[in-house]
Amino acid sequence: MKFFVDTADTDAIRELNELGMVDGVTTNPSLIMKSGRDIKEVTKEICDMVDGPVSAETVALDAEGMIAEGRELAKTADNIAIKVPLTWDGLKACKVLTGEGRMVNVTLCFSANQALLAAKAGATFISPFIGRLDDLNLDGMELIAEIRDIYDNYGFETQILAASIRSVNHMSEAAKIGADVATAPPDVIKKMAQHVLTDKGLDAFLKDWKATGQSIL
Ligand code: G3P
Repeated sequence: MKFFVDTADTDAIRELNELGMVDGVTTNPSLIMKSGRDIKEVTKEICDMVDGPVSAETVALDAEGMIAEGRELAKTADNIAIKVPLTWDGLKACKVLTGEGRMVNVTLCFSANQALLAAKAGATFISPFIGRLDDLNLDGMELIAEIRDIYDNYGFETQILAASIRSVNHMSEAAKIGADVATAPPDVIKKMAQHVLTDKGLDAFLKDWKATGQSIL
């Protein structure tokens, strides 16, 4: 499973990228707002840092507007994936933009039927939002599994990009189901390294090591 980082915080991306944990980046208008930076400036900085796809989201509601904004955003760098919402106009924009050879990430997906339409429209990535379904007491992970089945049934090449990830369990569950990509906030990716037994075991080893009176260096 590829790891995308869901943030526009360039320091956080840099830290994870240096460890080889970053296969791509996703941003959205809320994350741009949180960064406090200009969309084109921050997107360019991220694209220069990361080799993989960097999603930048359009904000127009009509297909023509999305296409124009997508083309503009794509001027930033070759690794831009244009993000459009899963609306009828978003699907139209997806078809046109992918037809021009651009990467398109269709976002705000909440049903298997929406994912099916995105694949038919040639989306490079489909972004089902796990956490926001869980917030409604629905099962976001079940949606990932449904989309995996449907795409595999017909050999769709659209990559399933599990989004709105809130916990380390979301990461392992998405990987077990076979999501192609998971995009997660930096703190979730870092938390994947933590285990209470690792901490406990380390404490015990250090205590015993101290008792030997030895040093390695
Ligand atoms: O990848 C989409 C993500 O940014 C949305 O996450 O936590 O706002 O639902 P969240």
